[in-house]
Amino acid sequence: MDLRQETQPQKLSPFYILPFPTKKDVVYVLILFISLIITSIVFCNLVTPFYPHLLLPFSFSKTLPDTQLPGSTNTCDYSNGKWVWDESYSNQKYTEDCPFLDPGFRCHRNGRRDVGYVNWRWQPHECDLPRFDARDFLERSRNGRIVFAGDSIGRNQWESLLCMLSHGVSNLSTIYEENGNPITKHKGFLSIRFHDYNLTIQYYRVPFLVVIDDPPENSSEEVRRAIRVDKLHKFSSKWAGADILVFSAGHWWNHDKTLKMGWYFQEKGTLNMTMGVMEAFAKSLETLKSWAFKNLDPEKGYIFFRSYSPVHYKGGEWNTGGQCDRSTAPETEYNYMKPESEPLNNQIISNLVKEMEIGGHNKVHFLNVTYLTGMRKDGHPSRYREPGTPSKAPQDCSHWCLPGVPDTWNELLYGQLLSSGFKTRRRMHADKEGVGRCPQWVKIIYVIWD
Ligand SMILES: *[C@@H]1O[C@H](CO)[C@@H](O)[C@H](O)[C@H]1NC(C)=O
Ligand SMILES: *[C@@H]1O[C@H](CO)[C@@H](O)[C@H](O)[C@H]1NC(C)=O
Ligand SMILES: *[C@@H]1O[C@H](CO)[C@@H](O)[C@H](O)[C@H]1NC(C)=O
Ligand SMILES: *[C@@H]1O[C@H](CO)[C@@H](O)[C@H](O)[C@H]1NC(C)=O
Ligand SMILES: *[C@@H]1O[C@H](CO)[C@@H](O)[C@H](O)[C@H]1NC(C)=O
Repeated sequence: MDLRQETQPQKLSPFYILPFPTKKDVVYVLILFISLIITSIVFCNLVTPFYPHLLLPFSFSKTLPDTQLPGSTNTCDYSNGKWVWDESYSNQKYTEDCPFLDPGFRCHRNGRRDVGYVNWRWQPHECDLPRFDARDFLERSRNGRIVFAGDSIGRNQWESLLCMLSHGVSNLSTIYEENGNPITKHKGFLSIRFHDYNLTIQYYRVPFLVVIDDPPENSSEEVRRAIRVDKLHKFSSKWAGADILVFSAGHWWNHDKTLKMGWYFQEKGTLNMTMGVMEAFAKSLETLKSWAFKNLDPEKGYIFFRSYSPVHYKGGEWNTGGQCDRSTAPETEYNYMKPESEPLNNQIISNLVKEMEIGGHNKVHFLNVTYLTGMRKDGHPSRYREPGTPSKAPQDCSHWCLPGVPDTWNELLYGQLLSSGFKTRRRMHADKEGVGRCPQWVKIIYVIWD
């Protein structure tokens, strides 16, 4: 019916005035052209890895929503919910064989016997978390760069994301550290490349985000280091231009890891002996905010601030014999007491996020994992630490076994990215790459339709 309509003389006047083609010819040429496109596309897919957008060249962009998903997830609060037992959950995930795991996070290999901790799935109260789709995440991130910056809890999350994404890649040799470095906690900078997607996912160790320096001249004896709250770490020059930035900060901003060790705060070139830790934390985040407004495109670069990840030391602190190896199940929603007030650093972080939104940064998010993480006293490596750890070493009740709790943080990250329509705006090169072995005219059609 459509065809007949299209062959009406009025609609084809440019052809009609030529002496040659009849209506029939035009129909044949059209059919020939369409079948050529289809065979070509099918053929290209046989000789190159599977690129769904090649199979559906004209509708692909519709599968990557630019705005809201139907049944908007924007209004759903992922931070509030409960842990549900789900044995099918761990089957969908990577295992400890993932090559990007730090030895210290491979709890089974390090002797942990109970396996339940991988079977708990986070269920928000008001909605479902979108199922993590590694291929979709990779496809959306094509030609991009994702940066994790912060403390070792951030590295925990970074490794989790690497493993979650590599689960969607069949040839693991196509994923590698760009400088050939092993994944260990001893490196300050690591960059993993997903070759087939032209994507890098990097980790920068900057526990305080700002510069740690020698104390200024003539400082008093007790001052051993100066934390310069108005000067961002030199690594920050590498963060500009990232498509997604995930900050993990706050865990080192406590009395024990600063003032008690003789690490004082410095501002405008002079030490300030009376500045408190939380004030200093807020100031360093302000410094980060000014940097972000200067160096990041508020329409493009996504910024996530992950909230505080609670520790679970029982019977002592981390350095005074605290333990968590008896815990084999999460707290239930009913007997879990929310901390009476939100940790102060979370309030500071979430205020910063609000300020940035007001300041016009459209892609800034607070990744609120504190409540859901607080219930997971069972998720830590505890005494199953990396091989070679002395048996008398303190238990690790602050990092997380992988697979484990940080996978859920990344599911939240993915959910928030989906609901704001994340997609790197640089698909063109990759499309050319994907159609690399196809005839030139297919590429041209590609570029036209992109
Ligand atoms: C984080 O989420 C928890 C649980 O929903 C909530 O109680 C808390 O207020 C949130 N924190 C912030 C700073 O929004
Ligand atoms: C890879 O991505 C970068 C941008 O991140 C881009 O400049 C480069 O052209 C891409 N390479 C290919 C082969 O598409
Ligand atoms: C996997 O990738 C590597 C590096 O690109 C390549 O040398 C190897 O042939 C690939 N293996 C398979 C089975 O495709
Ligand atoms: C440090 O003390 C020395 C000796 O008292 C003095 O000569 C010098 O000017 C002082 N330096 C600064 C930066 O105050
Ligand atoms: C030191 O920091 C405190 C708290 O921010 C501030 O009130 C005080 O003015 C600062 N002192 C100097 C000398 O800058």
